[in-house]
Amino acid sequence: MQQFYTIIICGVKKKGEILVGMIKGDSSDYDLLEKWSKNFDCQGYKTCEIGVREGLGSKIIMDNVINNYIHVGVDPYGNLEYQHYDDTGSYTCDYTDEMRDTMLKDFKPYRNEGRFTLCNMTDTEFMNESKHKDSKFAFVHFDGPHMTKDVLTEAIWFANRSAPHTRFVFDDHNTYEMSVIAHALTFFDFHTHGMGQSKCMLAKVPKKEK
Ligand SMILES: C[S@@+](CC[C@H](N)C(=O)[O-])C[C@H]1O[C@@H](n2cnc3c(N)ncnc32)[C@H](O)[C@@H]1O
Repeated sequence: MQQFYTIIICGVKKKGEILVGMIKGDSSDYDLLEKWSKNFDCQGYKTCEIGVREGLGSKIIMDNVINNYIHVGVDPYGNLEYQHYDDTGSYTCDYTDEMRDTMLKDFKPYRNEGRFTLCNMTDTEFMNESKHKDSKFAFVHFDGPHMTKDVLTEAIWFANRSAPHTRFVFDDHNTYEMSVIAHALTFFDFHTHGMGQSKCMLAKVPKKEK
């Protein structure tokens, strides 16, 4: 899944400053992420991306959703060695602290406006921090660890903290047992609403009151 997309940010203005930078994404279906987030009303709840890398997914979400309280990026960076997929061993990628620092620089206009915060930690650490347990999320992009048990754990944690009309986007859904995750999420009223080659989108449709 190592396809590289580059977008040039040009014209993000903050106090007369123009940010010109390059943000790369390492997957595909960013057009779908844009479509699914465009004008999506977060109703004052948070958005989140697990696995930020250079920041393309987060940028697309922040640029397209509306009424978002804040976008939270969760990523430990540090070039960690870990098992990426159900059927591989552990290895490191290129997720370095230098990459984090570049992302933070590219996102300075968003950070200055209080629209982005980085939780520089793993998904597990994030979910265990008590200050996040009372948050509610309207839009989540799952693009960190790609092992079924990790994505399933994240999905259930966020489903328990989902807003009435939350959307979940999963990247690289063909690399883990997405059908198991989608089935588990039906118990939280999530159903599949969009499917691409690498990304799929599940939306929460609350049951009608009887
Ligand atoms: C596939 S890249 C993310 C790509 C990014 N979402 C984009 O659209 O360009 C995976 C990222 O997940 C991060 N990651 C690895 N283990 C993680 C964990 N346990 N919790 C959160 N993020 C993790 C890596 O550091 C890396 O930056």
